[in-house]
Amino acid sequence: MPKAPACVAYGTGRPIVLVHGFPFHSGMWERQVAPLRKLGRVVLVDLLGFGANEFEGETPSVLTMDAQADAVAAALDHLEVREPAIFMGFSMGGYVGWSFLRRHRARVDSLVMCNTRAAADSRDAARGRREMADALATKGHALLIETLLPKLLAPDTLARRRHVVDTVSEFLREAPLASVAAAQRGMAERVDSSELARELDIPSLVIVGEHDAISTREELEALAKTMRQAQFVEIPSAGHMTVIENAAATNRALVEFVSSLE
Ligand code: MLT
Repeated sequence: MPKAPACVAYGTGRPIVLVHGFPFHSGMWERQVAPLRKLGRVVLVDLLGFGANEFEGETPSVLTMDAQADAVAAALDHLEVREPAIFMGFSMGGYVGWSFLRRHRARVDSLVMCNTRAAADSRDAARGRREMADALATKGHALLIETLLPKLLAPDTLARRRHVVDTVSEFLREAPLASVAAAQRGMAERVDSSELARELDIPSLVIVGEHDAISTREELEALAKTMRQAQFVEIPSAGHMTVIENAAATNRALVEFVSSLE
């Protein structure tokens, strides 16, 4: 079992819950904490299997988005966050967000979906995830870096921004392989959330990177249009990793959104 909920909070006021992507941990939000803590109580959560929430014994073979959503709820309980929060989910953190909305609806009053999707995986994509999960046991971190790095970063970042490439590579090298495999299997079985997104009637912000190869501009702009109260922002000079590749523009969008809330 994991230890007590792995979470930390900075600042005071309205809760702003930040949920990281795959295969990262809450440290990926490092550049967002300072601007956001001026606006509320920033809660960073490590999802099951990642960061400070690595399993002490055996890692389950599947970590579902529902289990992760319940882990976020447990983290909020642990921090005694009782009032509804601004939920910010990055990619897999967004998938967790849809589950969180299904299971803990009263705990969310506004939503930021960064570089994520509402659609479930296609059959091929789900099979690809399961194959990767199985292959990790023999191929290890080399497979992760070789497969993910070109999808996570914009071509220009990969070619010219060594520091960013090193930062993201370091996250991939540190990711616990059993958790990575379990999260891949969990994402493969996630359900479609398009209907939930359409029905949701809370202030929302959808963020995409200009060159995002995983959650594309076309898909996310269309998603935002189906949502009742969603704004859409494209972050220039960034691929999937907006929060790292162009933290300044991402932070401007986040601060503007949070400041606009009543
Ligand atoms: C993430 O950044 O969390 C992943 O790219 C999500 C995914 O693999 O769909």
